[in-house]
Amino acid sequence: MKRIIALATTLVMILMFAGCAASNTENQSKAETKAAAASTSEAADTTTAEKNDTDNSSKALVAYFSATGTTERVAKVITDCANADIYEITAAKPYTSADLDYNDSNSRTTKEQNDNTVRPEIGSKKIDLERYDTIFIGFPIWWGEEPRIMDTFVESYDLTGKTVIPFCTSGSSSIDTAADNLKANAKSGDWKDGRRFSAEVTKNEIDEWLKTL
Ligand SMILES: Cc1cc2nc3c(=O)[nH]c(=O)nc-3n(C[C@H](O)[C@H](O)[C@H](O)COP(=O)(O)O)c2cc1C
Repeated sequence: MKRIIALATTLVMILMFAGCAASNTENQSKAETKAAAASTSEAADTTTAEKNDTDNSSKALVAYFSATGTTERVAKVITDCANADIYEITAAKPYTSADLDYNDSNSRTTKEQNDNTVRPEIGSKKIDLERYDTIFIGFPIWWGEEPRIMDTFVESYDLTGKTVIPFCTSGSSSIDTAADNLKANAKSGDWKDGRRFSAEVTKNEIDEWLKTL
């Protein structure tokens, strides 16, 4: 009888040990999975940091003013195609449709465009240009020239070391006078030839132009 009890006890102990070992293996395997997950997550954190570093690298900015949305549409396509950032220049006192009436010799825009010393105040928050090496500057043509708020913009920033590419939309007028005025008033930046677009410009045309730069 004693031998039977001893045998049964040994068997129970063996079974307990086997169960414990199995459970240890399971725990170890769980710990390994966690460790692996932690290391994957560390790797992910590192990648994010590197990605942020990459994101902080120099890139292009599209800064634009648009009163009725045409230049904005072009600005958005350039932003998309050039993988750039976008910045809207808004007027502190927004332009109403009466302000934009070019048939009225007393409208705000007619008066502003008749006086090239006017500098309408910008309403949008100032942007840090530090990380941008190329700046596209977009605007509509008003009375053959740049809206005076664009002069406010270029005179508010130091464009030294930046490549500046002006673009505009217009009914038919070219960008030449506006680009010359802006370059002269900016007094800094490496200004490239500007490009005028019509309201009907396609994404393809804009993309083709970007490839030539
Ligand atoms: C006050 C004013 C003056 C304009 N003067 C001209 C002009 O001299 N030549 C031209 O081709 N288009 C002229 N336009 C048309 C605009 O350049 C054109 O509609 C432009 O695409 C509008 O851009 P936006 O929608 O981004 O404001 C003028 C428009 C306004 C409101």
